Amino acid sequence: MRIVLLGAPGSGKGTQCKQIVARYGLLHLSSGDILRQERASGTELGKKAQSYMDSGALVPDEIIIEMMAKAIEKAPDAGFVLDGFPRTLNQAVELDKSLARDGLAIDIILNLEVDDSIVTGRITGRRSCPKCGAVYHIENMKPKSEGLCDNDDAELIQRPDDTAEVVANRLETYHRQTKPLVNYYKNNGTVFDIDAGRSADEVKVALFEKLDALVAT
Ligand code: AP5
Ligand code: MG
Repeated sequence: MRIVLLGAPGSGKGTQCKQIVARYGLLHLSSGDILRQERASGTELGKKAQSYMDSGALVPDEIIIEMMAKAIEKAPDAGFVLDGFPRTLNQAVELDKSLARDGLAIDIILNLEVDDSIVTGRITGRRSCPKCGAVYHIENMKPKSEGLCDNDDAELIQRPDDTAEVVANRLETYHRQTKPLVNYYKNNGTVFDIDAGRSADEVKVALFEKLDALVAT
């Protein structure tokens, strides 16, 4: 199965991808997570991406397209779920072309819909584990011990781009550059709009329903 999860910052892409990969045995490919790993390792790619990410702008297409093509090559036969990529029309077209060269295509696009008014609170309250990548929220998804990861006891951190000011820029970037992808995919594939303003469990059930139906065909 090859899945694209679309959605604004804070719509729950990362949270839901973890559930999807656990159930269907897919590889989770988050462009944001890969960029953060590159930054943490001090690579050239990470250095180039830094200023864009910290201001809430998109990293240039040529960097992202090459980075994600390499990541997709390593995916198992079971498939993958893309989180945060593609994010521009150009990225989507290049992704389709590169899959088509191998006789493949995206099977399903799940579009997480959520109001801007909800996402700011979600993002500014997010805390993540620098070791294992687990994601929490100071009110909605608290860790068992405050400030510590349930999996490995590491101290939870806040992403540098999770301030209210940068979130406003990320949302503006999303509406201008990424939202048009929904229509691109509606003309070129199977898209399901999912109400992601509900609880994470309710969203998970709605996603599994669509994916179970796809697996059964
Ligand atoms: P990226 O890391 O992809 O960030 P994003 O798209 O802004 O999305 P987030 O990770 O903030 O949100 P999410 O939807 O994953 O939500 P989450 O599940 O964590 O990208 C970062 C930057 O990298 C970009 O700004 C850009 O610079 C660059 N970049 C990345 N990809 C790129 C690309 N393709 N092209 C160019 N540049 C690129 O949930 C958020 C919080 O809410 C958590 O605390 C969670 O616990 C909580 N939560 C989740 N679901 C619910 C729910 N249903 N109810 C209540 N709380 C919930
Ligand atoms: Mg994410």
